Amino acid sequence: MLDAVRGFYENHNANVHRAVHTLSQEATALYENAREKIKKFINAQDSAEIVFVRGTTEAINLVAYSWGLRNLKSGDEVLVSLMEHHSNIVPWEILSKINGFRIQYAKVNSDGTLNYEDYESKFTSKTRLACLGHVSNVSGVINDVKRIGKVAHEHGALMLVDAAQSVPHMPVDVKYLDVDFLAFSGHKMLAPTGIGVLYGQKELLEQLAPFQGGGEMIREVSFSQEQNRSSISWNELPWKFEAGTPNICGAIGLMEAVNYLERLGMAEVLQHEKALTEYALKRMQECSNVMVYGPSDLQLKCGIVPFNVDGLSSHDVALLCDNYGIMLRSGFHCAQPLHQIFKLQSSARASFYVYNTTEEIDRFVDVLKEIANA
Ligand SMILES: Cc1ncc(COP(=O)(O)O)c(C=O)c1O
Repeated sequence: MLDAVRGFYENHNANVHRAVHTLSQEATALYENAREKIKKFINAQDSAEIVFVRGTTEAINLVAYSWGLRNLKSGDEVLVSLMEHHSNIVPWEILSKINGFRIQYAKVNSDGTLNYEDYESKFTSKTRLACLGHVSNVSGVINDVKRIGKVAHEHGALMLVDAAQSVPHMPVDVKYLDVDFLAFSGHKMLAPTGIGVLYGQKELLEQLAPFQGGGEMIREVSFSQEQNRSSISWNELPWKFEAGTPNICGAIGLMEAVNYLERLGMAEVLQHEKALTEYALKRMQECSNVMVYGPSDLQLKCGIVPFNVDGLSSHDVALLCDNYGIMLRSGFHCAQPLHQIFKLQSSARASFYVYNTTEEIDRFVDVLKEIANA
């Protein structure tokens, strides 16, 4: 990935889609190859369904403003689960203040799993959109987004999936899931920061208004002297949603990260993380004064272990572990409603990826024992 980014700047650095010169042609080819790669990686139908954005947050905001602003009105309802990352709550809350629709929050069980009965019972003829994270960034719980998407479609509603924590960690097939929108971020899957993807079904994206205005996203801007007015037609998909100079090297880096992940195999990535999680959960039981949250059934979750140490704040735990070179996240992980359900101010979070090993977990558990019993 690093070589690909460096290679782009050394050999092909130019803007895309605007110039006839060689470098621009090369940059455009690489950028569009990256789109094609992502299309295949998530099994989309068409590369027009792959919109490059800054990340999951921008992807969800794109849907909120391009679709929601024009389609949600007073009397409508949007369903959101209480385990969402704030990026799948706040855009809808902001928009509901503008357009006057209601947000219905679906419950989460005390072990962090989704209360499917509650979510499904909240669908009515007013529901226009169902939002759900594929994997919780706090507990690692994997949600059956296909099941909720099916119910959404039966009610004539759309389904948006926050896949920030699934696309990097498991095979994700948008055709199989049959969802309308799916968002993820490159920086969680070995790619640079500032690049992410919104997948949207083509027929749907075609109906959407642009998100931001500027260069690249237009086909034509013509000015009428008589009417003192310009008329604008939008570019084709997906460029209609990519105003301004895109993150070209980010997309190229993402392509290379995907090449790498594909070489590992996404099923193997998931298996590796589950094995590490199982090992960590088992070993953490040896630590007194440590509370672990979320389900222990590995069928229900992947590589994230939230926990607290009795008598210490999560930031203290993270700082103490940091002294030993162990990086944990601490705080409420942009998911405060879920922490309220867990009746917690915050949690520390151990999470695993392709590069982690059982030896690192052994080291972590040794440190944890020292901290918890100090
Ligand atoms: C589940 C989930 N959704 C959304 C986001 C937001 O992603 P980004 O900050 O890349 O936009 C994150 C990031 O932590 C996440 O874990």
